[in-house]
Amino acid sequence: EKGGFEHFMLKEIYEQPKSIHDTMRGRLLPEEGIIKMAGIWDHMEKFRNAKRIIIVACGTSWHAGLVGEYLIEEFARIPVEVEYASEFRYRNPIINKDDIVIAISQSGETADTLAALKLAKANGAFIYGICNVVGSSIARLTDAGSFTHAGPEIGVASTKAFTSQLTILTLIALKLGKHNGNLSNEKFMSLCYELESLPTKVEKALKTDALVQEISEVYKDAKNALYLGRGYNFPTALEGALKLKEISYIHAEGYPAAEMKHGPIALIDENMPVIVIAPKKGHYDKVVSNVQEIKARKGQIIAVVTEGDEQVKNIADHVIEIPDCSEEFSPILASIPLQLLSYHIAVMLDRNVDQPRNLAKSVTVE
Ligand code: F6R
Repeated sequence: EKGGFEHFMLKEIYEQPKSIHDTMRGRLLPEEGIIKMAGIWDHMEKFRNAKRIIIVACGTSWHAGLVGEYLIEEFARIPVEVEYASEFRYRNPIINKDDIVIAISQSGETADTLAALKLAKANGAFIYGICNVVGSSIARLTDAGSFTHAGPEIGVASTKAFTSQLTILTLIALKLGKHNGNLSNEKFMSLCYELESLPTKVEKALKTDALVQEISEVYKDAKNALYLGRGYNFPTALEGALKLKEISYIHAEGYPAAEMKHGPIALIDENMPVIVIAPKKGHYDKVVSNVQEIKARKGQIIAVVTEGDEQVKNIADHVIEIPDCSEEFSPILASIPLQLLSYHIAVMLDRNVDQPRNLAKSVTVE
């Protein structure tokens, strides 16, 4: 049932070209110039009139939510807040009738996320679900929603569910932007066509596997690791660090690269591996100067860059190349080598990759 792979996690990492394709199937129709999503379309007035969108989630799904904030604000210009479900539900949050609360959950069973939604519903908000498991508690509670259709995820560490969440959030943001007039038809179309080519690019990103395995060999005994990114790839950094923590038990932190100088830079020495997500788009030049600052303090740099990159390559100890893409889609591509890095390190350390200690696939306790 692992399809020839040693672990479910690796199988699921490799399934991503297909799972992302499945998330888009029947929805992304560039030839017709549309994105079809009944959950959004049937409630377009709600979305059009929404003063605010609040995304609630936990763990990896919360990281997807952070990318969702950037996507929805960018394409649809609707203010978005992203909250840990556990914090939201216990702090007497302000919820208005014209708020839309979106829950993101692979399992659809996470207790805190479910409770946050119930609270939002009780306060009159429109509640929307992004779940992977059809028929799950969250999916049943919500007013509307979109399934990610990534297929069953068995490995406790979320991989393909995460990239499908990013894909669905991209579709939602594009659809909202198109219908509320914030996104020109030209931009909408070019992004749709690019989205269509994403599974092929993910396929290419998977080809970094052998190189990532070599890099894993070098850093497997590290006691700490730092993940840095800016903009869309700040959440990618958080997610990369979480993957390393949960399956290899190596302490790791994700940080917005610009925050380094406000404290974490003190941690850098020759023993600190720093994983920098530095694709050519967005704030590339700023990331390059962050990379220089780390090198000046002798940090070991593993950089995820756009193929053909020269600038970061000249400074970094290792570079992992991913295909060129719009900044908005780069978290999906950059996450692939980060998943592989945590996977290989965990295997080399003889960890229980699919069932890490102290963790459960769905967290139904509060
Ligand atoms: C990390 C991981 C967890 C879950 C979190 C939320 O790899 O799997 O952090 O993302 O427990 O789970 P769902 O998405 O099922 O609500």
